[in-house]
Amino acid sequence: MKVLGLESSCDETGIALFDTNTGRLWQRLYSQVEKHRPYGGVVPEIASRDHVVKVAPLIREILDEFGAIGDIDAIAYTRGPGLMGALMVGASLARGLAWALEKPVLGIHHMEGHLLAPMLDAHKPEFPFVALLVSGGHTLLVDAKAVGRYTILGETLDDAVGEAFDKTAKLLDLPYPGGPELAALADQASGTRFSFPRPMINRPGLDFSFSGLKTYAMNTIRKHSPLDAELRGEIAFAFQQAVVSTLRIKCDRALTETGYSRLVVAGGVGANRCLRETLDKLTIGRGASVYYPAPEYCTDNGAMIAYAGALRLLAGQCDEDIFDVLPRWSLEDLTEVSG
Ligand code: KG4
Ligand code: ZN
Repeated sequence: MKVLGLESSCDETGIALFDTNTGRLWQRLYSQVEKHRPYGGVVPEIASRDHVVKVAPLIREILDEFGAIGDIDAIAYTRGPGLMGALMVGASLARGLAWALEKPVLGIHHMEGHLLAPMLDAHKPEFPFVALLVSGGHTLLVDAKAVGRYTILGETLDDAVGEAFDKTAKLLDLPYPGGPELAALADQASGTRFSFPRPMINRPGLDFSFSGLKTYAMNTIRKHSPLDAELRGEIAFAFQQAVVSTLRIKCDRALTETGYSRLVVAGGVGANRCLRETLDKLTIGRGASVYYPAPEYCTDNGAMIAYAGALRLLAGQCDEDIFDVLPRWSLEDLTEVSG
């Protein structure tokens, strides 16, 4: 089965075609980041308009490479969560195309796409596992028992990790989206004189809170301004260290609570080098295994939607004629794919 996947939930237009028989994948990714940079964050109206411009030409590019439009067997698109207008663009095109081609179509949960992305790798995790999903909009610890059988063990009570990275990076005058830039600055520093708090580690449970950490960074920056290059590096280092050790402590707890020996880490912040090294050490120490998507499948992409769609479509799922998108949608509300 050849499944076309469309991702348009935020500021990346991701299109992919996944062949379930051969495992081959064709994909295109267009990032709107330059369009949003002058505003220091994603502007929803600009995002929707830019998806409108890009979705069809990217599908055309993929078709030019792999064959005819009639070869598509099914279509998957991101139904939520995300920006309403941006989601509508991908959903409308997917539904229209499926209707014209008389093929099945299915709306996919964006975070399930992230959670399953490591399975695009040859070294696939088996269920059950704990998933740490860390992106610009979400921070979740999930007990994943099967495709679609998810229990949320913990989530952020305020800012997502990626959001905290981006906001702190902005305070350090780094260009949007500052997460990777802040990480690079931190990686260049050899240490720090600062010790930032590790939020909520002394409370039981697996929830997170990152807005206080961002405020702590803001106060530190104010106190020491004007910052020289060394101080900026040390603040970035202290911030990254606090985030990463908080995530490590909660992952350790989640593995203990579930008794699982597999950890999956996905979402944009999953590309962070310090986080990967720290979780590698944690899992080695526990005799557990950790799985990450390939770097290109950490941040938003169409391949993860095509893949999640393929698993569900092969199991016979497809959308009715109802047509909606879900800007807010819990992973716990998905249906399980058995087998
Ligand atoms: O998963 P993603 O592409 O989009 C969402 O669904 O939100 O994640 C984007 C987020 C941004 O906040 C970005 O700054 C952050 O992931 N990010 C990083 C790194 N690479 C991306 N944060 C820290 N270190 C990185 N290396
Ligand atoms: Zn995402």
